[in-house]
Amino acid sequence: MPGPLSSPVCLTVIWFLSWSLFLGRAQILTNEVSGVQYGRLESNVTLACGTSPVRTPVEWRLNHSSALPWHKVTSDGTLVLLHVDQSAQGNYSCYDNRGLLLHSTKLRLGHPPGLLSVSCRVPNHTLVRCKWVESVKTFLPAEYHASYRGIGQEWKPCVVNAVLQHCDISQPAFWHPAHSLKITETNPLGSTPTNVQIRLHELLKPDPPELVSVQAEVGYPTRLVVSWSYPSSWPIHLAFPLTFEIRYRPAGSTHWSKIECNDSLVKIFDALAGHLHQVQVRAQDGVDTDSQWSEWSTEGQGQPWQAYSTGEPAEEFLPGDLFPDDSFPVNTKPDTSTVKTPNCGVEEECNLGLVILLVLFSVVILTTVLSLILVVWVRQKRRNHENKQELTSMVKMKSMPI
Ligand SMILES: *[C@@H]1O[C@H](CO)[C@@H](O)[C@H](O)[C@H]1NC(C)=O
Ligand SMILES: *[C@@H]1O[C@H](CO)[C@@H](O)[C@H](O)[C@H]1NC(C)=O
Ligand SMILES: *[C@@H]1O[C@H](CO)[C@@H](O)[C@H](O)[C@H]1NC(C)=O
Ligand SMILES: *[C@@H]1O[C@H](CO)[C@@H](O)[C@H](O)[C@H]1NC(C)=O
Repeated sequence: MPGPLSSPVCLTVIWFLSWSLFLGRAQILTNEVSGVQYGRLESNVTLACGTSPVRTPVEWRLNHSSALPWHKVTSDGTLVLLHVDQSAQGNYSCYDNRGLLLHSTKLRLGHPPGLLSVSCRVPNHTLVRCKWVESVKTFLPAEYHASYRGIGQEWKPCVVNAVLQHCDISQPAFWHPAHSLKITETNPLGSTPTNVQIRLHELLKPDPPELVSVQAEVGYPTRLVVSWSYPSSWPIHLAFPLTFEIRYRPAGSTHWSKIECNDSLVKIFDALAGHLHQVQVRAQDGVDTDSQWSEWSTEGQGQPWQAYSTGEPAEEFLPGDLFPDDSFPVNTKPDTSTVKTPNCGVEEECNLGLVILLVLFSVVILTTVLSLILVVWVRQKRRNHENKQELTSMVKMKSMPI
């Protein structure tokens, strides 16, 4: 009985396998594509012609051309590029004296990483985002690892986004006075850690308040009601209070008046009658006085109520009439009145609420009327259609020979 190895199929398979193995080895020996080699700029870079020493004289080429940068070739066929610059990058290949390719490698040049310059932003109590920029342009792909710890604590990862070059710490421990942050940049030429100390309390800086609105109060020519909303990145549901500062001035004035406030609504009592006012708001953590003020919000504008000779006081509520910017001179005298700090809790009923209610009410009515019209129209159309169909079938029936 023949052994399993002597069956023709098995023999063919074994022959095929050893043949392809031999071919593969031959290919590796003659054409050793070792991928990419990295070198330092402004240094001497050594490129070997394969792993095994070559006795025959070899010829080196860069990008298929025999024009090479400043170099020397040693007796064993190794190429030494002297004091390389960016232009020495490319695909190097060495050939034996019969023109057979022995080895090829791609050379990329750059610098090992240097220290990073790191800056951290703390927009709320749940996130620390640290960004960095390289102090050395390395020209090479890099990886980053980042971790942080409070004093005497374990290292924890700061989650890296390598593309945007930042890392995030979520739910940081605010009760630690300081944290160490270590960011390590690694590229094919080396690895460099950068260590920084961060103090979350001092870095805490909310985003600016949003949707600043300035409204007139009917009957009061020097009053303005300013309202705004918390920065959307500030977690209101976590009950961290904010303190606000409001600054306002008649448009064109250089002097700002300021009010501090813990609410998100404030009434200005000393607006300059008949003038458009500019208003901005900024925020700070309500408890942590070491923390930073946010940037000023975008500007809100509004003008106090004015008794128009023509009457029609209801129209003053329309937004178009609230900001008749063009009708007033831009360069008014600065408001030099001293800064007063009125209570920001507003005692009187809010006119803004009334306006919103009115607008909502009219929108509802309009929608109802429109849908009614639509329903009636659709019905009418369908009826017309049916009538037409009936008519045509009647015509058909009539025209049918009986
Ligand atoms: C590079 O090689 C040249 C010539 O062999 C030598 O003079 C020079 O000192 C070398 N430079 C470095 C940085 O090693
Ligand atoms: C060789 O080719 C690479 C791209 O593959 C290019 O960046 C480099 O400038 C070329 N070098 C020369 C000397 O032509
Ligand atoms: C470099 O050129 C050689 C010869 O043309 C080619 O076989 C090899 O694939 C190239 N290597 C790279 C990394 O481009
Ligand atoms: C904290 O701020 C970040 C960045 O603006 C935001 O993505 C995140 O949702 C905020 N956290 C909470 C709990 O609102």
